[in-house]
Amino acid sequence: MNHLPDSPAPAWWRNSAIYQVYVRSFADGNGDGVGDLAGVRSRLPYLRDLGADALWFNPWYLSPMADGGYDVADYRDIDPLFGTLAEAEELITEAHTQGLKVIVDLVPNHCSDQHVWFQEALAAGPGSAARERFWFVPGRGEHGELPPNDWQSYFGGNAWTRITEADGTAGPWYLHMFAPEQPDLNWEHPEVRSEFESVLQFWLDRGVDGFRIDVAHGLAKKPGLPDVGPDPDVTDLPYQDVDGVHDIYRSWRKISDSYPGERAFVGEVWLPTPGQFARYLRPDELHSAFNFEFLCCAWEHDAVRDVVDGTLAAHAEVGAPPTWVLSNHDTIRHVTRYGREDTSFDMGDKRLGAPTDRVLGLRRARAAALLTMALPGGVYIYQGDELALAEVEDIPDHLRQDPTFARSQGADRGRDGCRVPLPWSGTAAPFGFSPAGAADPWLPQPADWTDRSVAAQDADPASTLNLYREALRLRRAWVGALPEALTWVPSQPGVLAFTRDGSFTCVVNFTQEPVPLPAGADVVLGSADCTDGMLPADAAAWLLATAQA
Ligand code: GLC
Repeated sequence: MNHLPDSPAPAWWRNSAIYQVYVRSFADGNGDGVGDLAGVRSRLPYLRDLGADALWFNPWYLSPMADGGYDVADYRDIDPLFGTLAEAEELITEAHTQGLKVIVDLVPNHCSDQHVWFQEALAAGPGSAARERFWFVPGRGEHGELPPNDWQSYFGGNAWTRITEADGTAGPWYLHMFAPEQPDLNWEHPEVRSEFESVLQFWLDRGVDGFRIDVAHGLAKKPGLPDVGPDPDVTDLPYQDVDGVHDIYRSWRKISDSYPGERAFVGEVWLPTPGQFARYLRPDELHSAFNFEFLCCAWEHDAVRDVVDGTLAAHAEVGAPPTWVLSNHDTIRHVTRYGREDTSFDMGDKRLGAPTDRVLGLRRARAAALLTMALPGGVYIYQGDELALAEVEDIPDHLRQDPTFARSQGADRGRDGCRVPLPWSGTAAPFGFSPAGAADPWLPQPADWTDRSVAAQDADPASTLNLYREALRLRRAWVGALPEALTWVPSQPGVLAFTRDGSFTCVVNFTQEPVPLPAGADVVLGSADCTDGMLPADAAAWLLATAQA
């Protein structure tokens, strides 16, 4: 049977399996308890053998780490916590040697308050040109004592902080849609634009294959920075999806297209409607964007089918490839979500501590892996997904590091629980994350992670690690290159089945009972044991039509 398509291979960014490396939690090379580039380099063979096509690295730049590196002080250097620029260059080269593409994280909406521009702006004083690169605005009220408008930070609290001038007088306020240590840049300023174009070129010149764009929907702000008001229209907020943002991506696309090879953008676009989202994926803008609608969707037959249909329709309109994402460094790990009564994800209501059936969550997570890897488009794997790691929900408060925890006075438990250092081997912390004699991992690992480690799962043919390896192998061999279209196949209630080419079929059982697998097909891979011709509850299988004599 020949599954290879006749047409030339699609560009890599249309169908790749992209593995997200959260560097500080991946592997610690120097023993300080924090993951680093040396650690990543030592584990590249693991990533190659897993079957990833590309790696996305969370920000590795110089940063005071007020938000895990999303507060960048120098976009052209590596933070010493992680290594050096020379090491990053070597890592890019070595990844390429192993057949892995490299995507770096670009953070253009804001920089660090320690960035030279912001320090200059503070020092330069009222009305200075240096302040024009940010949003310094006089306060309201008789003495400017009230914030300039009613915008709230995504991390909780006011989106404005008032500065004190060098002479001790109270000054204007500056905008920060995230933490106060992350001042928003003014994208109407030509120097902001040219600086980021130069940063893109800096990394493109170093051979990166793409960029993940942080807060891609947020760069442009409505002129005059109007109030949101008491009952805002969420599709028309003054700080997100403002039209001017698309000009920025058009200019970036020209730059990426001018480089040899296929360099690509993936946008972090959180927007309420598929129509708004798809506009970022027009042919002269970003190549792709994370599918958060799918990530947020409950593990329910009708909901999943609707999101898949909606995703395919929205992307087809602009000719962009869909992506499928189950977890990332901001969300609750899906093994945990899928084991709860409410299996959806809501950034504003993370429900940490909700009763969880881990065994059920694991079954569904394995099924979801096969579903996402069978769908047309790209797939993202967040480090630890392949180990079926659950959210770590019992991190003591005093060890929590995510700024959302402190800014919400603990009401939001934060994102630390999905950022716990990976278990590689052994029976106790640090589970091979750090070399012997190292400092404690920067977040505590659960004592019961022995059977989650890479070494333990390596040895178990039925492990989730080996399921991912086999799925990624088959995906690379042929599933990924099947026609981008999908056809639903009739199936019994609570079961989703679709084919990509009439021969390959993916079947997912959302019900609590085993269901018979369709006749005339062989199981090539199952998330659970399908040997008796039945697909167990909460399981998925990949089938190939039986070869006709
Ligand atoms: C994005 C990142 C998140 C970060 C925020 C501010 O949402 O994924 O981790 O805190 O942007 O940069």
